[in-house]
Amino acid sequence: MRIAVLGGTGDEGLGLAMRFADAGHEIVIGSRSRERAEAAAEQVRAAATGAKASSAENAAAALTADIVFVSVPYAAQRPTLEPLKATLAGKVVVTVVVPLSFGKGGPQAETVPEGSAALEAQAILCSSRVASAFHNLSAHELQRLDQPVDCDVIVCGVDRETRQTVIDLAASIPGVRGIDGGPLSYSRYVEDLTALLLALNRRYKTETGIRITGLPVPIPA
Ligand SMILES: NC(=O)c1ccc[n+]([C@@H]2O[C@H](COP(=O)([O-])OP(=O)(O)OC[C@H]3O[C@@H](n4cnc5c(N)ncnc54)[C@H](OP(=O)(O)O)[C@@H]3O)[C@@H](O)[C@H]2O)c1
Repeated sequence: MRIAVLGGTGDEGLGLAMRFADAGHEIVIGSRSRERAEAAAEQVRAAATGAKASSAENAAAALTADIVFVSVPYAAQRPTLEPLKATLAGKVVVTVVVPLSFGKGGPQAETVPEGSAALEAQAILCSSRVASAFHNLSAHELQRLDQPVDCDVIVCGVDRETRQTVIDLAASIPGVRGIDGGPLSYSRYVEDLTALLLALNRRYKTETGIRITGLPVPIPA
């Protein structure tokens, strides 16, 4: 599977790229800058033995990929996706975007007119198969390739087939259990939970994640 990560120069996108490359997928790092993309691709090749990682500007990265991840700050999601509407038509597009603000009161979930970052992405990309996932998985944990991840990944998506594609991809990361979170209307709850996890990280000086109990799907060893 050829996976593009738009904004793959940032911590979260880079971590996802490293994990997917480590799982044997072909990666193309997307960026507004070809040079920054290539520097990040070099980091992926250095981190994951035998990694197939290349680089391109966002539009070119999106064009050649089977699945496209969007890993940019919330304010950048619309300007990143709008010019790519035609390029991304028919493709699975996974947004990991969390609308957050960081004020005196700690991390807070931001209100989005469409209801969530995922619903905003689907409204822009009406001909793409949009999913949302990985909101609750920290970049630092993703980038530590020597350790399995201790986190469930809740996948919301436009239809069951799209969700299953992303669940399977998530499960290619050691320790990750992909969970079907249902339609995109549920993504807001997963996105908002990230604000709480970040506040807990600050309070307990650690990296938190989530595990859902009671599901008939075993947690990977
Ligand atoms: N960090 C985490 O642990 C974590 C965990 C879960 C979810 N998330 C979510 O994942 C997304 C990415 O997180 P991150 O920490 O990697 O973010 P980041 O480092 O702030 O940004 C990621 C990349 O987005 C691009 N970008 C930044 N501003 C932009 C703009 N105005 N217009 C277009 N592109 C812009 C940049 O790439 P170029 O300059 O190379 O184009 C940047 O390297 C966020 O929505 C975040 O909430 C993060």
